[in-house]
Amino acid sequence: MSAKTKIIIDTDPGIDDAIALFMAMADSDLEIIGMTAVNGNVGVDKAEYNIRRLCDFAWHTDIPVYKGCDRPLKRTILNAEWIHGSDGLAGLDFGTPDNKKEEENAVDFIIRSLMKSPEKEISLLAIGPLTNIATVFLKEPKTVSRIRELIIMGGAFCEDGPRGNATPYAEFNMLADPHAAQIVFDMAERVTVIPMEVGMQAVADKAFIEKMRDLNTRCGTISADLLDATAKTLSAHLAKLSKDGIAPETGTSLYDPCAVGCLIRPALFSGRYGTVLVNTDPDSEKFGMTTFEEGSKRNCLVTHKVDKEAFKEMLLSYLAALP
Ligand code: BDR
Ligand code: CA
Repeated sequence: MSAKTKIIIDTDPGIDDAIALFMAMADSDLEIIGMTAVNGNVGVDKAEYNIRRLCDFAWHTDIPVYKGCDRPLKRTILNAEWIHGSDGLAGLDFGTPDNKKEEENAVDFIIRSLMKSPEKEISLLAIGPLTNIATVFLKEPKTVSRIRELIIMGGAFCEDGPRGNATPYAEFNMLADPHAAQIVFDMAERVTVIPMEVGMQAVADKAFIEKMRDLNTRCGTISADLLDATAKTLSAHLAKLSKDGIAPETGTSLYDPCAVGCLIRPALFSGRYGTVLVNTDPDSEKFGMTTFEEGSKRNCLVTHKVDKEAFKEMLLSYLAALP
C-alpha cells in the first residue's frame, strides 16, 4: 500500500473553495494535516469559521484548522463578498461546527510542520491570496526547499483573452495580495499554477449542477446550492462585467477545485515552465496582473489546459464518496 500524500490547504472559503475542500476531503489518498485560513474572499475570521463548518459538514472534524494573516502584506484589504455572500458561503445553512479552532497561528503551524517532517514530505495547496505562504517563506526561508509540491490557484496568462476577473487585468487571488504573490513566485523552488483561464474551462453549467444534485448526498446537494447561488449573482452582474472588459463567465468557474484536481490527477492538465511576474504597483491600472516569461529560472509550471470533461466526472465521483 502506498503512503498517503500529506497536504496543508491554505484557503479563504469562498464558494469554489468549499467545493475544493470537499473534493480534497473525499480523496482517501490524501492526508490533510491541517487547513489554514487567510484573508481573501472574506475576512480571516469568517474564512476560519467556514473551514470548520465545511469539515464538520463532511464529517472530517479530525482536521485541525488554523487562523492566518488578517490582511495583505502591503495593500489595503480586498474581499469578494459580492460574489461569495457576506458570510462567504452564500448564506447557506452549514450548521454550527463541533470542531474547535486551534490556538497556534497558521503561519507558525505551516513552519512547524515543514521543519519537523522529512524533506519533501508535505505538499501545500494555496487557493486564496498568498499572504500566509509568503509570510512563511519570509519568516523561515528554510521551509522553501522542504515543500514537496506547491500548487497555487491564481493569475491569468492568456495572451489574447481577458486577464482578470477582479479587474480587466487581475485575477482575484493575485490582486488581493500582489506583493505576497511575487515573493512566493520568486522564492519557490517549483510551483504549479492553475490560472483563471483553466478554472474557466471547467465550468459548472446547469446540466452539471443537476448531476451534482442527482448524487443525492448532502455534500452534493449543498455544492449544487452553492453553485446555483453563484450563477444567480453572476447573471445579475454579467452585462456589466463584459462591458468592463473583465472575463465574462458562462457558468460558474470551478477555479479552486481545479487546483485540487491538478494535485490528484496532474495528467489531466497541460502547461509550460517559466517565470511568473506580478505587477505590484498600486498606482498602475495593471496592479495584480501576472505575466509569464520563459526566463532563466523556469520554476513555475503554468497550466493552460484541463481535460474538462474528465475533471468534472472526477469531481462528481469524489462528491459521491462524501456523506
Ligand atoms: C479565485 O478567487 C476567489 O474568489 C476564488 O475562491 C478563487 O480562489 C478565482 O479568481
Ligand atoms: Ca479561493
